[in-house]
Amino acid sequence: MIECTHVYKRYKNGVNALYDINLKVDQGEFLYIIGPTGSGKSTFIKLLDGEEIPTKGTVKVVGIDVGHLRHSQVPVYRRNIGVVFQDYRLLKSKTVFENIAYALEVINMPRDLIRRRVREVMNLVGLDDKGNAFPEELSGGQQQRVAIARAIANRPKVLIADEPTGNLDPAKSDEIMTLLEKINKAYGTTILMVTHDLTLVNKHRKRTVALENGHIVADLAEGGYVQHDQ
Ligand SMILES: Nc1ncnc2c1ncn2[C@@H]1O[C@H](COP(=O)(O)OP(=O)(O)OP(=O)(O)O)[C@@H](O)[C@H]1O
Ligand SMILES: [Mg+2]
Repeated sequence: MIECTHVYKRYKNGVNALYDINLKVDQGEFLYIIGPTGSGKSTFIKLLDGEEIPTKGTVKVVGIDVGHLRHSQVPVYRRNIGVVFQDYRLLKSKTVFENIAYALEVINMPRDLIRRRVREVMNLVGLDDKGNAFPEELSGGQQQRVAIARAIANRPKVLIADEPTGNLDPAKSDEIMTLLEKINKAYGTTILMVTHDLTLVNKHRKRTVALENGHIVADLAEGGYVQHDQ
């Protein structure tokens, strides 16, 4: 599903953000990416969604060589993945329903299917009664749910979430985790979640990849320690 082979990323200003990243993620896996600030987590995500290209090495997602896509191919590639941003990035002037529907309109999904899909994901994230609300009328946790609903509406094979619980209290974080686990099970979606929240990582145990200074320093399988392959 995801395969990174000897991936390096050096930014134009000379900063080396990632070194020799080798990582294989199977379909349906749910894993955490952890690491201190500046360790390369967001850079890694940007390589996966095609925002940045690797300096060396190969990034493959759903069989597609993401680092070698032409600019014009990136939007089509992105239909395979859903991204949940830490700052939600909801459209203020659109309702909850419209925010989710918009993601499907831009890929020309037929109207009746859009309506069905939006209702389905609103139900899944527990926001059935908020379709006509505007983002500003929602709590942080509810806005995060809308962002997740929007990211999964197209049933992507891979869901990438950058600090999806970053702005939430522990109880709300637990709810978001339960929701992501439900999506992982219901659709078999492969989920990569970047987080700083070690309490959460220890409570909801999953494969955990740790980055430090651009290197993978640990790859912890559920319940045990696995040394990362060189
Ligand atoms: N566009 C860019 N141009 C140059 N250097 C960058 C760019 N983006 C990130 N960097 C650098 O690359 C390194 C890794 O940054 P990255 O954003 O991937 O870290 P991170 O693990 O996501 O950190 P945080 O937890 O603070 O979000 C840092 O040294 C950062 O300054
Ligand atoms: Mg980051």
